[in-house]
Amino acid sequence: MGRKQRQNKKIVFSDTEYETPIVNNEEKGYRETESKSENSSNFQRASANKSQVYKTVYFDDKSTENDDEYNRENPDSDDEFFEQNRSVSRSQLKKNAEKLYEIRKTLPVYKVKDEIIPQILQNPVTILIGETGSGKSTQIPQFLMEIMDKNIAVTQPRRVAAMNLAMRVSEEYGCHVGEDVGYSVRFNNATSHYTKLKYITDGMLLREMMIDPTLSKYSMVIVDEAHERTILTDLLIGFLKGLLIERNKGKDEPDFKVIIMSATLDAEKFSKFFNNAPILFVEGKMYPVERYYMDKAADDIIDTTIKSIIQINQGEQSGDILCFLPGQDDIDKVVDMLTNIAPELPKEAPHIVAMPLYAALPPQQQMKIFSKLKPRQRKVIVSTNIAETSVTVPGIKYVIDSGLRKVKVWRHQLGLSTLLTVPISKASATQRAGRAGRESSGKCYRLYKESDYLKLTDTTEPEILRSEIISPVLMLKKLGVDDILGWHWLENPGHESLVASLQQLYTLGAINNSGNITELGEKMVILPVAPHLASVLIKAQEFNVLEEVIDIVSCLSVDNLLLNPSSEKRDEINALRNDTCTLGTSYGDLIMLKEMFDIFNNIKDPRERKAWCKEIHVSYKGFKNVNRIKKQIKDYMILLGNDVMDVDENDYDDDIANNKPLDVEHILKSFLHGFISNTAIGLPDRSYRTVTTGSLISVHPSSLLFGKKKDAILYIEFVYTVKGYARSVSAIKLEWLQEIAPKLQGTKVSTEK
Ligand SMILES: Nc1ncnc2c1ncn2[C@@H]1O[C@H](COP(=O)(O)OP(=O)(O)OP(=O)(O)O)[C@@H](O)[C@H]1O
Ligand SMILES: [Mg+2]
Repeated sequence: MGRKQRQNKKIVFSDTEYETPIVNNEEKGYRETESKSENSSNFQRASANKSQVYKTVYFDDKSTENDDEYNRENPDSDDEFFEQNRSVSRSQLKKNAEKLYEIRKTLPVYKVKDEIIPQILQNPVTILIGETGSGKSTQIPQFLMEIMDKNIAVTQPRRVAAMNLAMRVSEEYGCHVGEDVGYSVRFNNATSHYTKLKYITDGMLLREMMIDPTLSKYSMVIVDEAHERTILTDLLIGFLKGLLIERNKGKDEPDFKVIIMSATLDAEKFSKFFNNAPILFVEGKMYPVERYYMDKAADDIIDTTIKSIIQINQGEQSGDILCFLPGQDDIDKVVDMLTNIAPELPKEAPHIVAMPLYAALPPQQQMKIFSKLKPRQRKVIVSTNIAETSVTVPGIKYVIDSGLRKVKVWRHQLGLSTLLTVPISKASATQRAGRAGRESSGKCYRLYKESDYLKLTDTTEPEILRSEIISPVLMLKKLGVDDILGWHWLENPGHESLVASLQQLYTLGAINNSGNITELGEKMVILPVAPHLASVLIKAQEFNVLEEVIDIVSCLSVDNLLLNPSSEKRDEINALRNDTCTLGTSYGDLIMLKEMFDIFNNIKDPRERKAWCKEIHVSYKGFKNVNRIKKQIKDYMILLGNDVMDVDENDYDDDIANNKPLDVEHILKSFLHGFISNTAIGLPDRSYRTVTTGSLISVHPSSLLFGKKKDAILYIEFVYTVKGYARSVSAIKLEWLQEIAPKLQGTKVSTEK
């Protein structure tokens, strides 16, 4: 006994001055009352265009958008952005901060500062809910900066949000970014020894934890946008629970504090998880947002989006537009169409400048959305849910919400993942609408019926319940958690999924038969790729084929690198690929990727490169991404030190690599180490039987090995449509399987036909 159960308290801070005013929309002829569930009962709504119909699109898995942690943090050099900030003089910084202070004082959170801060200081954990735009992410950390002894980390699920917030807050604080206020995102660290407040992606904070498990440099961690429930946020929250106990043990005053923050959150759940932590509500938002619904469901979401944009462009004189669409394909289509039609539109309306925003875009391109346009131009940002939280793009007054998002769903029983287009939650819809009211009153056009809105789930399903969790489990092992099944999960991913992950880690050699992390596992946890690929990279170093394998792993990390030819062109393209890739034609897709990548890099003229990509049906943009990812993986391998590799950095010159004949055997053996469970033995009828379960599997028609007879194959992906297909297939020798399989613990391998 001894511990006192604290009372669960809820405190509401309200500032009536900021109550949302009623927006009159009667002149448009529609008037309804908003449902109470979205805490904005004052709004009226109207249909944007009665002739448009909205249809919910389920189970489309063709898109390229993949918002996993890797893409979310898609790293690159952000030097330009950083340099611009550095060039501002001290006196200018001071002046800007004074100007911004006038705005800060009007924010709802600022007005209740003196009531909130003592509450936060009294408790080790606080749950803080405040409307979107009320000043949570920018103000709360600044209030606490002066009070806390050590540093404060504010986590964001997305890289672009962490950078955007650090820029804004350093401006408000009156310093250059990276001084008192900084950020840390993968491969870009804008902090210094006097950084007190750090905006950081949850993935990066977890990485810091792998190195300093007690986060000894911090007095406080603020978990922002907790409602997004990404795997990493969930995992971090679990770790923080343990850390609170450890750091505050035997202390009268807590040495370490946590704030969980969001605009839309199942606050009770978080409060309960943290031993009935108090919940603080800050009421009142900055500006009202009118919401409009469709009368009928839309037939074609792209067409409806374009029509809505043109309608707003013609009807409203000022203010930019932000559209939410599910995936990259849809976004690229809309941006292309808008760019084409913009010059043809009536000259009285502003000129539309369309910009895409999705995770797979290089960061410099993502940052373009913040650029200033010329007078009479109108910014139209077409985005995935990357812009849903935290990012404030100045000038946005209109939001168009398709009501859809893409999610990757992992099925651990089948060992495969699928990309699905699914409806968003009410919480997401609220966040999206909130983007229109950050700087002045705005409008949100929902491309669905109000009755469809009411059917949406309240909150977004935690990512951990639909994802592969090998990486999180490895992180837990790294932090010495023995009982993975009984760990204090915010959301327990389930016995079956956890046991499957432990088995996989054991097979990969990342944990030993006592369940402890091995030396190999320690290295794998540091690499920014899935554990299977991490093990391939580490093995490749031993086999002296690291450069080649880094290239292939980078190719595998880009979605839709190989484009699907139409059925009439398929044979022609396949023949061309077979002719071009002289080794790939016998050894399969991994080797083909390396050959294609080398050809791409050897063509120096960009126009020629583009033409070649078109001819052989590969993505030009995709290969450019491969080059960037390659650099990042290489940097991480170097970071692992001589322990893992002793290759000089200069050895990575492409030309040198290209002149060296490919050591196909060792390249494929490296992959075999990471993907031993994804192997199958050839049968006389050109089908295959998997080594682990003995089920039948066929080579996918998109593979270079389709229709060819091989003794055994290794595949990176398994997809199930009408039957099981292997994708990204390589030919392997039976001896390799016999040689490598017995060395891998826990795998029962039968190589009999
Ligand atoms: N980068 C920026 N540019 C211009 N104004 C900004 C910027 N960031 C914040 N603001 C202003 O500061 C206000 C508070 O922003 P803040 O990000 O702290 O809100 P929040 O409560 O965290 O909202 P959300 O729940 O949407 O994340 C905004 O409403 C906006 O007026
Ligand atoms: Mg915020």
